[in-house]
Amino acid sequence: MTDFRALLVEKTEAGFQRSVVTRQVADLPAGDLLIDVRYSSLNFKDALSATGNPGVSRNFPHTPGIDVAGVVVESSSERFAPGDSVVAIGFDLGMNTPGGFGQRVRIPAGWALPLPEGLDLREAMRLGTAGLTAALCVQKLEDAGMTPDGGPVLVTGATGGVGSVAVMLLAKLGYRVTAVTGKPDQHGFLQSLGAAEVIAREEARTGSDKPLLPETWGGVVDTVGGETLFNSVKRLRYGASLAACGLVEAPQFAATVLPFILRNVNLLGVDSVELPLAEKAKVWDKLAGPWKLDGLDALEEPLSLDTVSDAIDRILVGAMVGRGVVDLSA
Ligand SMILES: NC(=O)c1ccc[n+]([C@@H]2O[C@H](COP(=O)([O-])OP(=O)(O)OC[C@H]3O[C@@H](n4cnc5c(N)ncnc54)[C@H](OP(=O)(O)O)[C@@H]3O)[C@@H](O)[C@H]2O)c1
Repeated sequence: MTDFRALLVEKTEAGFQRSVVTRQVADLPAGDLLIDVRYSSLNFKDALSATGNPGVSRNFPHTPGIDVAGVVVESSSERFAPGDSVVAIGFDLGMNTPGGFGQRVRIPAGWALPLPEGLDLREAMRLGTAGLTAALCVQKLEDAGMTPDGGPVLVTGATGGVGSVAVMLLAKLGYRVTAVTGKPDQHGFLQSLGAAEVIAREEARTGSDKPLLPETWGGVVDTVGGETLFNSVKRLRYGASLAACGLVEAPQFAATVLPFILRNVNLLGVDSVELPLAEKAKVWDKLAGPWKLDGLDALEEPLSLDTVSDAIDRILVGAMVGRGVVDLSA
């Protein structure tokens, strides 16, 4: 196959325009692996790329898609042979390197991992960057001492990609999960994923005028930032931690040192993009093994190259639920 279908984002005088086009394999950048992309998934960052956010993508025309699950077609790396199933997420994939919203990608071998045993390609993309990030948050919180008997764990942005996987994973691991959502009609969905309690976004944002709030959470997975982040820090129990990975509410927050010096709490940063491949591999293996989530299909909204653009518009306004999985053969 010398040509393939891809979503292309072009910078025009009227703004950033998206269309599905035919591209040439020969136009892909140099790299060790040519991959037949079977599935990708939609993450908030893809929507930022598709709308020209310069913090994500600067080179246009461009094909977004920070997640890839597929089969190696050509390899100049000893680590992979044609026919191998692989996953690649993060690094520059889909940022300024053409990504998974195209049927072929060419990437450095150092961005790819063998598909973990225990997951198929579609399951891997039901997780994707969002799932890996949720798992990284939980792992970092546990490394900092979080345990199921340390109090309920708050998950913000809970119906989103990272949030929904975090709710499922924490519930599986025996935590009592409180989910925060701005979608009043999705409380039942969050309970079906394992949330013991669901609260409204406004409730998680309250208390900005107070230096400390009642000690409530044994841990927090925060995907939204802003006022919600620091009000959640103020509600951490003594010695507990918040893992911060997202910014859909706001990238900035107003803070004081008081929760840190009076309650011994921790604010932990989580990055899935530049995390070394070996660290990514450890988390994938957990998600394929002891942390494997049953019922991941309940999170999936099936997408194709023809429908992903509409989903990009919805994720930008926080209206997606769960994980959009892009089937590149559909
Ligand atoms: N650090 C990393 O490596 C990493 C990796 C992946 C993602 N992220 C970041 O994590 C965040 C979530 O990513 P995602 O892919 O899960 O996105 P997503 O699927 O759009 O989920 C975000 C969720 O946040 C809630 N939300 C939306 N707008 C909000 C607002 N203004 N205030 C408060 N809550 C709002 C919504 O859930 P409810 O309606 O249920 O509230 C929404 O579904 C993004 O900022 C993304 O860039 C970071």
